[in-house]
Amino acid sequence: MKKQLIALMFALLPGFALAAGPSVHLDKANIDLSDKAALQDGARTFVNYCMGCHSAQYQRYERVATDLGIPEELMMENLVFTDALYGDHMKIGMRPEDSKVWFGAAPPDLTMVARVRGEDWLYTYLRSFYEDRSRPFGWNNTVFENVGMPHVLAELQGKQIKGCAPVPVKENGKVVRDSLTGEPMLAEQCDVLTVVEGTGTQTADEYDTTVRNLVAFLSYSADPIKETRHRIGVYVLLYLAFFFVFAYLLKREYWKDIK
Ligand code: HEC
Repeated sequence: MKKQLIALMFALLPGFALAAGPSVHLDKANIDLSDKAALQDGARTFVNYCMGCHSAQYQRYERVATDLGIPEELMMENLVFTDALYGDHMKIGMRPEDSKVWFGAAPPDLTMVARVRGEDWLYTYLRSFYEDRSRPFGWNNTVFENVGMPHVLAELQGKQIKGCAPVPVKENGKVVRDSLTGEPMLAEQCDVLTVVEGTGTQTADEYDTTVRNLVAFLSYSADPIKETRHRIGVYVLLYLAFFFVFAYLLKREYWKDIK
């Protein structure tokens, strides 16, 4: 019976994987929720580049400031651009009816998006916009085909294009190098994204960091007490382990004459 159950569990595993959706390769976001500076940087990118269209209306400015260690004055001066008060929700002025006409789809609220889409999806999505003149705003996305959102971070990343380009050959995840020169081996591959050099204000690494921090902020926003919960969880488990010893000794004491 046990064996059959285990066999059944393994048989179901691929089903769970497939249920996750079509297989676009997703890069790992590798965020660190305990890195306050990264979260602050993400918050700054979010209010500057995303809140023109997206709200985070289940989140309050005050809560963000407190959790991320931003003083009230700095928060109000640098991260609140509307006439919102410190204790207000992070709402925006754009009305969904209007944005639906402008973009073909209303920009959804992003408070919980990290839970819905996952961190790796967001990280890959925000790095996968490419120039496509057939689209209304001139942008398309490999992760979200024909998305209504333009590439709002293009000034940072630069113009990314999709096409054929020489890319480093990889074997088992490792770059293959020429044994004589030590240079990475290149092979022509199509449907790859490359940034046109000199078109963005950030280097590829800097842009990855900007996006990673932004995703960290979105992840924090979707689950603000995750860090606290994990910390408390450790204490609870330690307490249970400690308590177990005494419970066991007590049990032994109670049962010692009954046998
Ligand atoms: C000019 C308006 C605009 C700005 C600015 C903007 N977006 Fe969007 N975004 C949209 C629209 C419109 C959609 C809906 C696209 C669709 O469904 O086709 C969207 C969709 C998304 C989605 C997909 C949501 C889902 O689950 O379907 C994510 C994630 C997202 N935006 C993140 C961001 C982030 C992060 C920023 C800031 C860097 C940002 N957006 C800035 C207009 C915008």
